[in-house]
Amino acid sequence: MNNDAPIGIFDSGVGGLTVAKEVISLLPNESIIYVGDDGRFPYGPRPREEVREFACEISDFLLSQGVKMIVVACNTVSSQAMDLLVPRYPIPVLGVIEDTALYAAPLSLKKRIGVLATPGTVNSNAYPQAFSRIDPQIKVVQVASQALVNLIENGSGGENGVKDFASKVISPFRELGVDVLILGCTHYPYLTKLMGELLGDQAQIVDPAVAVSLRVKRELTERKVLSEGNDPRRIFYTTGNPTLFLKVGSRIFPGLDSVESLKLK
Ligand code: DGL
Repeated sequence: MNNDAPIGIFDSGVGGLTVAKEVISLLPNESIIYVGDDGRFPYGPRPREEVREFACEISDFLLSQGVKMIVVACNTVSSQAMDLLVPRYPIPVLGVIEDTALYAAPLSLKKRIGVLATPGTVNSNAYPQAFSRIDPQIKVVQVASQALVNLIENGSGGENGVKDFASKVISPFRELGVDVLILGCTHYPYLTKLMGELLGDQAQIVDPAVAVSLRVKRELTERKVLSEGNDPRRIFYTTGNPTLFLKVGSRIFPGLDSVESLKLK
């Protein structure tokens, strides 16, 4: 495998740029190819079979671009398609759920962890299942909010609209006294500061991008395929509206200034 081959990262939209940003900040020599499937956003409410089909289509495209690893930034895909994706490709395919759970579990002294995610991720029970494998005493409280994802993806709602909505959505976490909150959707880390303000000192906020980036670094190191840093390239594709992708994406990924259109099925 070519060490300087790019890492493929994909998501249902712009939200996965939170993962791309974290990977690049940890591994600045790496090239990446990012695909945001904005044209078919959102994945959260879609049937499992459809999510799996889209995930294969995008991963096939990334493989055809010569990536050395695929990072499934999307929690909705990670919670429903890893059993299909991992054996399908000759390169490592990493999702976000297991590593986030491993990262978050020791942080919770009260063993009460909140997960804010899409309906698809919540209904899959992937996070509670991952925690029960790590420590069956951990209680997981899940809240699904697709509307909050959509507000962020569309760049609509304004700061106050998002704040009002977020404070309502997270009240079950306050009531149940979680001391760790996983922002289990790529769009939510955009709200890390706000969530911290809303929950105060009560809970530590966990962004899956951090856990998965550490895993990316570990995998590349162990496989001896870290890039030697020869002119890293960053290529971004969207299946949706490039203007909107740049507008919303540049808030998440400063410096984002070009995006290519990608036609999938
Ligand atoms: N990117 C998805 C995730 O991380 C959420 C957005 C969607 O509904 O497509 O779960």
